[in-house]
Amino acid sequence: MDTNRLSKTLMAALNEQMTNEAQNSQIYLAYASWASEKGYDGIANFLFRHANEERNHMMKFLEYILERGGKVKVAAVPAPGDDPSSVNDCFEKVFKSEVENTTNIYKIVKMTFDEGDWATWNFMQWFVKEQVEEETLAMSLLSKIKIAGGEKAPTDALYNLDKDLGGTPDDARSAESVTAENP
Ligand code: FEO
Repeated sequence: MDTNRLSKTLMAALNEQMTNEAQNSQIYLAYASWASEKGYDGIANFLFRHANEERNHMMKFLEYILERGGKVKVAAVPAPGDDPSSVNDCFEKVFKSEVENTTNIYKIVKMTFDEGDWATWNFMQWFVKEQVEEETLAMSLLSKIKIAGGEKAPTDALYNLDKDLGGTPDDARSAESVTAENP
């Protein structure tokens, strides 16, 4: 007897989004490493912690697929692309990546609605809310760098921004305190 409660299309979409979240984690890891190499330890710390949060998003999809009797397909994760060219570019890339992720989440929500899969619709609402937070966070990064001078931000402004971000907690808790249910 088939106990899979997900349609073929939704199962494929959820698996794809699971890989997208893994890619988001890799993107944050790459940018964090770039920031660390450049000496921006505060920004790096912030981005490293966010990479953990993205990995937990990936786990949330994985666990949901299993919970619904579906098949998880762990796929290759595309490379994050080029390093940022500046702090301004880094924050712009982060914002762009979050907006793309929101678009992907909305596509799945639309699919659940069209199929009348209310369990998955309900599951996806957590991500709808989360994306509002993530976009707000990315917007606040852009505001900070804009105030610092954008592409022309002087070294002392970048120094202060780095210090500020290093001491500002974001939504990502340390790896030990998160679970897939509560990333
Ligand atoms: Fe998992 Fe930043 O969205």
